[in-house]
Amino acid sequence: MKGSILIHGGRVVSLDGVAHEDVLIVDGLVSEVGKDLSDSPRVKAAHTAAHEAGGLERLDAAGKLVFPGLTDPQVHFREPGMTHKEDLASGSLAALAGGVTGFMEMPNTKPNTDSPATLADKFERAAGRAASDYAFFLGGTHDNAEQLGEWEHTPGCAGIKVFMGSSTGSLLVPDNPTLERILRTGKRRVTFHSEDDDRLKVRYEGLPADVHVREHPHIRDVECAMRATTRLLDLAEATGRPIHILHVSSADEIRAVKERDLGDLVTVELTPNHLFLEAPGCYEGEHGSWAQMNPPVRDRAHQEVLREAAADGTAACIGSDHAPHSLEEKAKPFPYCPSGIAGVQTTLPLLLTAVRDGWLRYEDIVRLCVAGPQRVYGVNGRGPLAPGALGHVAIVDPSVEDTVADHPFHSQAGHTPYAGFKLAGWPVVTVLHGRIAYQDGALVGAPAGQPIHFG
Ligand code: DOR
Repeated sequence: MKGSILIHGGRVVSLDGVAHEDVLIVDGLVSEVGKDLSDSPRVKAAHTAAHEAGGLERLDAAGKLVFPGLTDPQVHFREPGMTHKEDLASGSLAALAGGVTGFMEMPNTKPNTDSPATLADKFERAAGRAASDYAFFLGGTHDNAEQLGEWEHTPGCAGIKVFMGSSTGSLLVPDNPTLERILRTGKRRVTFHSEDDDRLKVRYEGLPADVHVREHPHIRDVECAMRATTRLLDLAEATGRPIHILHVSSADEIRAVKERDLGDLVTVELTPNHLFLEAPGCYEGEHGSWAQMNPPVRDRAHQEVLREAAADGTAACIGSDHAPHSLEEKAKPFPYCPSGIAGVQTTLPLLLTAVRDGWLRYEDIVRLCVAGPQRVYGVNGRGPLAPGALGHVAIVDPSVEDTVADHPFHSQAGHTPYAGFKLAGWPVVTVLHGRIAYQDGALVGAPAGQPIHFG
């Protein structure tokens, strides 16, 4: 399923900026990036070699931006156990449509992914059905803490994920002694959902029956997040184990991470939801729960600091935290409606809109969505477009200003808090392993995702 293609005449986005260049991919790997490669000996050789295998594809990218395919390091594709919300086929297709050529999927499925057997089951399910490349997290628990150091090296395992606060599903490690056991077993960076469960319990106690979803960020308040993040910073320092704090939601946590200045020991992920949605407005109206996620979307003052952290390099990655629920589930009254937003398909258009609006640069998208996940998780081959990298490309038309409704929305969730947003710049073609895999709103050929490799 590997292909050869010359992407001609586009503007290639790298960590250094944007340049008019061609990209040659041969047998699924980037072979050359440079000015007008039509007469390059490598292109001629690829033509000849590919002739027997059906020819070298040529894609005219004039007027388009050519991004390396994105890696989304936080998605929930719900399989097994909750496939009425999403499954590996639909979630990975939504990813591909959004220029996301690799995803790392979270362990809060049914059953939880907390053993070699449940991990192996996900790989079996993904083979031949996932439309983009895949890796899966192992959930850290009280019972498996001592075994994680061995299991984290399973090929295709994205690493260990720990829920410090209750969210969707039953995975939970609320206490420091177990957290410390997990951190002292193994080497790879451990990822955390950072909300303090003791405080969450207190905050949910005695809520009035008619509480509105706009109270969500006040119930799961900044203190819930700060307490857990402070504990994590202490634990990282005490154990020397690298940690990654997922979906940071508050200015206070960003300041705390900066003040502690623990360098590469502590890395931070942001989500588009905390960068583009704003309380209280996002919770108003008929579908307020569509914007409900954990940790919650907060107000403008937090959003501004998170945007700065995205632009100035404080944050290492952006993950969508794609966490779909069905329309019926979301329609339940707060606080019984589940938390989570479908977002894997809208990350890139949202970030392109941030570039249009002037608070992010194209090269920041490559840093946060390609090089960042690569560095944080030790991914092989999924870097910026350079010889030897995997031939994954997201081709974007920056002149298209559309709403989400104008594009096929592949998540089974069927709802998004970005429904009315006019977003600037949309992926038009996604190339996976050197083959056009998504075009004109549809999958091209059979799903061709492969396991992601970690070094
Ligand atoms: O809002 C959320 N939804 N936050 C999480 O941490 C989990 C996720 C889900 O799986 O639904």
